[in-house]
Parts: sequence; structure tokens; C-alpha cells
Amino acid sequence: MGAVQNVVLVGFMGTGKTTVGQKVAKSLGYQFVDTDALVEEVEGRSIPDIFAQEGEEGFRGKETEVLQRALQQDHAVISTGGGAVLRKENRKLIQEGGFCVWLTASAEDILERVMMNTNRPLLQTKDPLETIQRMLSERHDFYVETADLILETTELHPDDVAYGICESARVYFQHRVGE
Ligand code: S3P
Repeated sequence: MGAVQNVVLVGFMGTGKTTVGQKVAKSLGYQFVDTDALVEEVEGRSIPDIFAQEGEEGFRGKETEVLQRALQQDHAVISTGGGAVLRKENRKLIQEGGFCVWLTASAEDILERVMMNTNRPLLQTKDPLETIQRMLSERHDFYVETADLILETTELHPDDVAYGICESARVYFQHRVGE
């Protein structure tokens, strides 16, 4: 049986996973799944509401459930939440479930991209830049462990990021199918 052909995007909040994921899905003719959107759909509540009512742990449980569900598919592009790599079981699911790309950006760039938005509970702090820097360093090794490809997005347009992912995915899948 050939390996599954899913593309999974991981990376910190504001690194463009959703925008880029939609473009990749369109270009490859794959289905697009966003795990944050799926959690909200299944729960009928926003992510800030889930955090407020059940805390981060409550959210993480739901995130794992939808990730499992999303990864049962084939030929899908799956954008994950920035903290999806925190759980070991998620990292394993992602590694086994497809070609994983880590989108990176500088802390300053991330701050600029998320500043206008209040829908990320973990960044509603007094010093969001410090929070981003700390969380980036806490998560760094988990992203490295999970990813097949690392793409630095700071200087790139989302179209170029998407193009790079599509070409890399084609090579990866060809290689894997031929194994
Ligand atoms: C989170 C990232 C968010 C969302 C939740 C927690 C995180 O997703 O899952 O607010 O822990 O980094 P995005 O990366 O899509 O913003």
C-alpha cells in the first residue's frame, strides 16, 4: 500500500498556515482542513470561549480528537493550531499522517501579523513579544522533531511559500511511493 498523501502544516500562530494551506490545497487539488476551524465547528463555540470555559487542557483534548479525524483522510492539506505539536501523541500522528511542513517567522513578524487580532487567548498578555519569544523557544524542538521540511516565511509572499510546499510535496510523495 502506498504512503498517505496528506500535507500537514505546523508552526506558530501568525505564520500563515491557513492562508498558505488553502493555496496548497487548491494547487494540488486536495481537500483543505483547518483543525482550529474544525474544533469550533464541532463544539459550536469559538476558541476563546473554549479556553475561557475549559482552559488550555480542555482545548488540547478537542484539538487531538479533530487532528486524529483529519489525519484519517488521504489527499488533504491540514493546517494545525500553533500548539498542536505540544502533545507527543499529536507529533506521532502528524509524522505518520503525511508530509509535514513547519512554517517559521521571526517573533517581530509574528507580532505584527497577530497584533490586530484578539482571537488567540495565549497572546492576550501584557508583553506579547516576550510571550511569543518564550513560546517559540519552548516549542522549537517539537516543531523540529515533527517536520519533514522547514520554511522560513518572513521575507516570502504566501504564494511563494505555497509554491515551495507543493513542489517539495510532489518530490516527497514520489520518493515515498517508490520506496
Ligand atoms: C494556539 C494556536 C491557535 C489556536 C489556539 C492555541 C497555540 O491556532 O489553536 O489559540 O497554542 O499556539 P493558530 O496557530 O492557527 O493561530
